[in-house]
Amino acid sequence: MQAVRERLTKEEEQSAPNRSSWTIREALDWTTQYFRQAGIANSRFEAEELLAHALKSSRLTLYVNPTRVLDPEESVHFRELIQKRKAGTPSAYLVGDVDFVNVRLRVNPHVLIPRAETEELVERILNDFNARGHQQHEAVALLDLGTGSGAIAIALLKSWPAAQAVAVDISADALDIAQENALANGVAERITLLLSDWAAAVTGIFDLVVANPPYIPTEELEGLSNEVTDHEPRLALDGGLRGTREIERLLQQVPHILKPGGFLYLEIGYNQGEAVHNLLSKSCSFSEWEVFPDLAGRDRMIRAIRTKEE
Ligand SMILES: C[S@@+](CC[C@H](N)C(=O)[O-])C[C@H]1O[C@@H](n2cnc3c(N)ncnc32)[C@H](O)[C@@H]1O
Repeated sequence: MQAVRERLTKEEEQSAPNRSSWTIREALDWTTQYFRQAGIANSRFEAEELLAHALKSSRLTLYVNPTRVLDPEESVHFRELIQKRKAGTPSAYLVGDVDFVNVRLRVNPHVLIPRAETEELVERILNDFNARGHQQHEAVALLDLGTGSGAIAIALLKSWPAAQAVAVDISADALDIAQENALANGVAERITLLLSDWAAAVTGIFDLVVANPPYIPTEELEGLSNEVTDHEPRLALDGGLRGTREIERLLQQVPHILKPGGFLYLEIGYNQGEAVHNLLSKSCSFSEWEVFPDLAGRDRMIRAIRTKEE
């Protein structure tokens, strides 16, 4: 990848149309090609996201007037975005927000950029609750451990208008973003944000506990792209030697705050199904559990039910 990036020489950059006279279509076509050569996946989508941001408009409006010429200020801004993206900064941090399930979330380098796999986790929870006859206006007390941008808690609150959430993180900077997102999405009155080492500072009993903890084995972190390791918070990624260090800690704490018969959902690493299954087998606090794959067919989430008391 690095070699490909290095092949993109100054001459290639200069072969771009004179940026002061770019039309929207030219800017998109050139940038898509440039990103593709730089090994950036989804090059068209990323070009659209960045251009829409530079023009302070939406991706859709780019296609309404493709022959509009960028003004000099827009060109300079877009060029800066292209260079930062090529140097490895994720588009979401450049644009400053992302779509997640049913909400738009602000993100910055203090929080993980919410992933498609986590959208799958939220969709599974919503589908499971629907399948069990959950009514939209029923009260649900939910706890989101390691909330980051607030993604999981805010998406669930948005879907369940009578639910209340406690959302916890060990990063005060992450909680600031979660607070902004809760306000922007109209759920601030139904969420309590708490600085806590997992559930250590949490009081109360919950119907549902959800967590997407850091689960990447420390050694595997080095193998991830620089885009992730240089820009996203290590605290959100590093799961210790085998990747399950924080999951083990969570599983010890959750029984104290999950009601009997309540549900725990965890996002896990692609090869951690068996390890987490074994951890649950050793605990007498959970009676049923199941590992679910993501759309790519890899282990990705686990659902466990708290043992009912006799
Ligand atoms: C993988 S990120 C998930 C963020 C968000 N829930 C999402 O799905 O996009 C893990 C989050 O857990 C937080 N975290 C890490 N260790 C923690 C701990 N001991 N207690 C509470 N939160 C922790 C990190 O700061 C980070 O925000």
